[in-house]
Amino acid sequence: MGRVVVVSNRVAVPRRGEPTAGGLAVALKDVLKSSGGLWFGWSGETRKEPTSRETRRIRSAGIDYATIDLNEQDHKGFYAGFSNATLWPLFHFRLGLMEYDRKHAEAYRRVNRDFAEALLPLLGPQDTIWIHDYQLIPLAAELRALGAKQRIGFFLHIPFPPFAVLSALPDCDKLLKDLLAYDLVGLQTRRDLAGLVNCFSEGLGLEVDAEGGVRGESGGHMRRTQLAAHPIGIDTRGFATLARKAAFTPETQRLVKSMGDRALIVGAERLDYTKGLPHRMRGVAALLANFPEHLNNVTYLQVAARSRNEVASYRDLKRELDSLAGRINGDYGTFDWTPVRYVARAMARDTLAGFYRAARVGLVTPLRDGMNLVAKEYVAAQDPEDPGVLILSQFAGAAETMDGALLVNPLDAQAMGETLDRALRMPLAERRDRWTRMMSGLEEQTAMRWAENFLTELEELPLSGEELIWA
Ligand code: F6P
Repeated sequence: MGRVVVVSNRVAVPRRGEPTAGGLAVALKDVLKSSGGLWFGWSGETRKEPTSRETRRIRSAGIDYATIDLNEQDHKGFYAGFSNATLWPLFHFRLGLMEYDRKHAEAYRRVNRDFAEALLPLLGPQDTIWIHDYQLIPLAAELRALGAKQRIGFFLHIPFPPFAVLSALPDCDKLLKDLLAYDLVGLQTRRDLAGLVNCFSEGLGLEVDAEGGVRGESGGHMRRTQLAAHPIGIDTRGFATLARKAAFTPETQRLVKSMGDRALIVGAERLDYTKGLPHRMRGVAALLANFPEHLNNVTYLQVAARSRNEVASYRDLKRELDSLAGRINGDYGTFDWTPVRYVARAMARDTLAGFYRAARVGLVTPLRDGMNLVAKEYVAAQDPEDPGVLILSQFAGAAETMDGALLVNPLDAQAMGETLDRALRMPLAERRDRWTRMMSGLEEQTAMRWAENFLTELEELPLSGEELIWA
């Protein structure tokens, strides 16, 4: 294997005093370490001056990190604008929340070009380049325009919608053509793969061949792009160990003590409208309204880490949640019982691991999600002797493989209430059976295996099958 170069908007540069990276970053770092690799991306800093090609370099634990600062205005249009107010809602099927501003689309292109210009001088001819996520779709096309011939793979961490949805984006064919500059495009699930295949067919008139690839024109060349589903996993053993140890931390002990005999329902994610948090709160309200035996016997803890506050829809969501949590507590709480504990702040990974282990129910109900690693971490964190129950949205990518979960449609609050009741009453034998099924899947499909499978598939593809179509 040659050197691997990972590119993502955010880079997990190790910083003293910061919490340990999540499972995905750990898997990528393992791959990078074994190939003497490079991780390239945005430094997290913006400047008034135009973006410069100069990179900041550090080397840590056998990995090179190179980052660039971005121009302030460009970053705004690229990140808060096109990436998170256009592509994010679009790819999560939320056309009503999607905004479009041509200036943001231009900033998105410009930043991808800046990335390409800063990255190109750092590349060697034998490198394998692996680009991540929706912020950087045009990056391979920009690199190819500058002459890059290396194998380039792309992995989309979020869903890919069918053409009926994607076509709401002005110039969406441009985005599809950008994907043709890659040798391999990886998606989370078979459903996402079907969405992309449908977009190539209806948007560009390109059909998938028997081996799962498409041939099309990119930058004046005919190229072949392989398409594949590569569902992401977690560091299953690592998280299970973390949770086992975390059960004895002061935080988990305090939580358990504060619960008394009550059952804990836990939810934890970024405060994002795709996660269906208001719907989840309505589901908990339906449990309390329709199954009074749970009144005073259950507590729902929701951790919602503030995120993307520069985008208006995220600020609106925060207000909605504040009021919903207050209303449920007002309607059902008593002087010594708060049904909803709502924390709108991030929590350390090991604290969460302990909380997952202490919870009888993991409530993971996004309206749409690429995979959802919280669902996987909740399962990995359980005590095998007395595991909790995972309630999972049918719209999370994880639902394709986690067959031991109780699946729900988060739009149906009554059904969520009924499913919560079922989970809270589930006998131990059924809990163990469901948990064992899911855990064996998680032990197979780890983050490390995901990274290795993707890179193996990429490296086994013929090197840059470009054919000039005009001379
Ligand atoms: O998977 C979606 C994603 O955008 C990742 O690319 C990112 O690491 C995470 O969500 C957090 O988002 P942000 O970088 O916008 O804070």
